[in-house]
Amino acid sequence: MTSDALENLSHEDRSFPPPAEFAAAANAGVDLYARAADDRLGFWADQAREFVSWDTPFTEVLDWSNPPFAKWFADGQLNLGYNCVDRHVEAGNGDRVAIHWVGEPEGDTRTITYADLQREVNQCANALTELGVVKGDRVAIYLPMIPEAVVAMLACARLGAPHSVVFGGFSAEALRSRIADAEATTVITADGGYRRGGPSGLKPIVDQALATSADTIRNVLVVRRTNQPVNWTEGRDHWWHDFVGRQSGDHTYTPNDAEDTLFILYTSGTTGKPKGIEHTSGGYLTQAAYTFNAVMDIKPDSDVYWCTADVGWVTGHSYIVYGPLANGATQVMYEGTPDTPHRGRIWEIVARYGVTILYTAPTLIRTMMKWGADIPGGYDLSSLRLLGSVGEPINPEAWMWYRRVIGGDACPIVDTWWQTETGGIMISPLPGVTATKPGSAQMAVPGISVDVIDDAGKSVPDGSGGYLVLTEPWPGMLRTIWGDDERFVDTYWSRFPGMYFAGDGAKKDNDGDLWLLGRVDDVMNISGHRISTTEVESALVAHPWVAEAAVVGASDEMTGQGIVAFVILRGDAEPDDDTVTVLRNHVASQIGPIAKPRQILLVKELPKTRSGKIMRRLLRDVAEHREIGDVTTLADSGVMDLIRTGLDGG
Ligand code: PRX
Repeated sequence: MTSDALENLSHEDRSFPPPAEFAAAANAGVDLYARAADDRLGFWADQAREFVSWDTPFTEVLDWSNPPFAKWFADGQLNLGYNCVDRHVEAGNGDRVAIHWVGEPEGDTRTITYADLQREVNQCANALTELGVVKGDRVAIYLPMIPEAVVAMLACARLGAPHSVVFGGFSAEALRSRIADAEATTVITADGGYRRGGPSGLKPIVDQALATSADTIRNVLVVRRTNQPVNWTEGRDHWWHDFVGRQSGDHTYTPNDAEDTLFILYTSGTTGKPKGIEHTSGGYLTQAAYTFNAVMDIKPDSDVYWCTADVGWVTGHSYIVYGPLANGATQVMYEGTPDTPHRGRIWEIVARYGVTILYTAPTLIRTMMKWGADIPGGYDLSSLRLLGSVGEPINPEAWMWYRRVIGGDACPIVDTWWQTETGGIMISPLPGVTATKPGSAQMAVPGISVDVIDDAGKSVPDGSGGYLVLTEPWPGMLRTIWGDDERFVDTYWSRFPGMYFAGDGAKKDNDGDLWLLGRVDDVMNISGHRISTTEVESALVAHPWVAEAAVVGASDEMTGQGIVAFVILRGDAEPDDDTVTVLRNHVASQIGPIAKPRQILLVKELPKTRSGKIMRRLLRDVAEHREIGDVTTLADSGVMDLIRTGLDGG
């Protein structure tokens, strides 16, 4: 019997040192670790001076006199619009492309230089001012992946008006509750956007949201993207092309305080109303810009970077907008889905723009594995030099596939762990330093302090699992939950005194490298052994027939919980009759008999949130033969019916 908070089951021997050429030219060297360890606050002050331009220099780095309420660089003043746009134009880089934008319809593209971006952000800032938006007002942004989303965010940042971006796939009710919670005064939206081969409507959803108690909204600014007919409320609604288009391209900014709110981003809690995660300006930008430089190794003169996330998620905030633009990077931004008009769309765009750095999510990589290596194989991906992953644990075999098929065995992979709450990357290899290990996010980035602890709050030794905690404040940390300090303290700081508990399970392997093991709510308890769903899933994905797997613990009279696995086979798999037995035995041989699934169900789809995370809660309902719970956050609400019908039928 073990007292570990989480068993350490799998084992990984493969290791890939950075290519010598990559290491020699890397932005971040091994010295960063020593500098940060020597003087953590001095290190962060250096990053803040190196990556951020201040109107008023700060004199104090961190005020932690009232934990967990942190203040970073509090007496400094800066403007994020200036940092992300104007200073690059001033430095003579106005002609550099900021955004290669690719619309979903074939041939629909725009090229936006830093000088273009400056003009558009200034016009938008002037337009918002004419609409009465002043510093401190909240602006809701509900847009597709079009350049105006970036322009709108930067215009808000310029004015010091916190933005609250709501993902364009969310419903009227989700939008309404977020507007109401933030008491936003203005909405920026579009008639619609292109997704999956057709126009989707956004303005009708805004109208619906505003029809039911969102009475703080005074104005709605509408981008014309699809030309669909829309209803119009005179006096409230304004076309972007008219209203923003006639504004001056000059705008003089006012510096903001480092601790002024930059944005609110809502994230769903396990239960109850969404949490408005609040981020401020100076510390957030410091961490986003520094990590983008160190982890993504950006060379603004030569790289073409592409993050496939949506600006509606934190990844889009930190690694499409603030991190890349503060560094003066050139990036690709894509409106549509990866399978429109064909399944090679992502790779076609990589080849067309010569993308050098690709940052994506495990869900996309596993989908590509399911579709088969032939598809990326049809494109020239030789421009790629660095690959990143974020959002979920990446199973070692998916990591190996990413490395081999997409990276041609030549690109370092950075598996980056962080959260909406952390603001920026916290755990990741440094691509020119770390010998990477498939499936492991490995270690805290310089300046960040993490640990894995047991139930009693004690650090676990190498080779053991437990709870992932952050043991020191960091610049990009959330400052509170909007309007609810008590919920902030309860949710993140109360379980282990003095530490931020992230909600994730993790282990330290025998080399001390960190492995993320999923949300602790998902941990299974099999005969008293706490087993991570991630490790069993990784074992399944390691079998050549398997593209994707989701594992849950279902109540079991004998063992407490039994392991039930939902498995999607690869397109080119050739299973024999006894697929299920083969896979059960495979798991047993990979990680031990304790982890052998009680049941394996072959399915065609898995339930996922709109940001691509598997919703194991719903699969537990299936496994325990219960009524299926709340499906409102599912990306595709038909998936659960498909799974149910598939199982009843076979
Ligand atoms: O469970 C972890 C998982 O995603 C959670 C944070 O989700 P969100 O706030 O939506 O932000 C996603 C983008 C930063 C974490 O608590 N997660 C994120 N990255 C990883 C990960 N799990 C394992 N490995 C990762 N690299």
